[in-house]
Amino acid sequence: MLFENKSVLITGAASGIGRASALLFAREGAKLVLSDVNDAGGTETLAMITDMGGTAIYHRCDVTSSESVTTLVAAAVAHYGGLHYAVNNAGIAGTFQNAIAETEESVYDAVMAVNVKGVWLCMKAQIPAILASGGGSIINLASVAGLIGAPGGAVYAASKHAVIGLTRSVALEYARHGLRVNAICPSYIETPMVTNLSDVDPKMEERTRKASPMKRLGQPDEVAEAIVWLCSEKASFINGTTLAIDGGLTAS
Ligand SMILES: NC(=O)c1ccc[n+]([C@@H]2O[C@H](COP(=O)([O-])OP(=O)(O)OC[C@H]3O[C@@H](n4cnc5c(N)ncnc54)[C@H](O)[C@@H]3O)[C@@H](O)[C@H]2O)c1
Repeated sequence: MLFENKSVLITGAASGIGRASALLFAREGAKLVLSDVNDAGGTETLAMITDMGGTAIYHRCDVTSSESVTTLVAAAVAHYGGLHYAVNNAGIAGTFQNAIAETEESVYDAVMAVNVKGVWLCMKAQIPAILASGGGSIINLASVAGLIGAPGGAVYAASKHAVIGLTRSVALEYARHGLRVNAICPSYIETPMVTNLSDVDPKMEERTRKASPMKRLGQPDEVAEAIVWLCSEKASFINGTTLAIDGGLTAS
């Protein structure tokens, strides 16, 4: 098993990609710290893991709050005696329908707070704990919208470009200290985030399928497989990279 006796912290573990990753890490023997602002979903993920014989705790954390993030990392260290890996997955979409002139400032503030400040706060708190445990790795959830533009979703795209900038910079800062930091860049994946966008714009899913070289959306498990592998020591010489999980969308 890839993560036997290793602790893994996941933000946004209540649904979608975070939940799928948590289940896969559990199958690989990880001791999990699940966190989210959605307590019902978070405890549901916890129950799924304990039902399969895995080890996990759930701890509520709002990634936009430094106090909440610091408390989360301290709880992880206190419970398992250290922290080895982290997946900074919590994120929000904001709006995907409004050109910049029609986008509210409140959308900008909310998206940047979760997607950028959240990842920054998490890494800031996680890195000393991971180094104290002897090193490990961090995966940040960016997006194909961190690699190319997203008309109608400029704020989201800006936030995910920022996640890639953070990932590359921090990977270089700690490369000599036994810590790897990488970013995952999915295209449209069938999760509650995309379902919610489709509720606002029912044609979005059809457009997305048409635009996809493989003519389909991705599944959370297909992203989770890449997260678990890239996080693990199997990927020991991969650092500061962006891995697109997009069915070829950004290949052209
Ligand atoms: N689904 C996609 O198509 C897609 C594509 C590219 C990137 N991503 C990224 O993958 C990540 C996971 O997305 P998903 O599709 O699984 O979405 P999701 O909505 O299913 O899951 C996101 C989770 O983040 C949590 N969250 C939101 N704000 C939070 C906060 N302030 N503090 C803590 N948790 C918070 C939510 O409660 C939710 O459980 C996100 O960063 C997203 O931007 C998703």
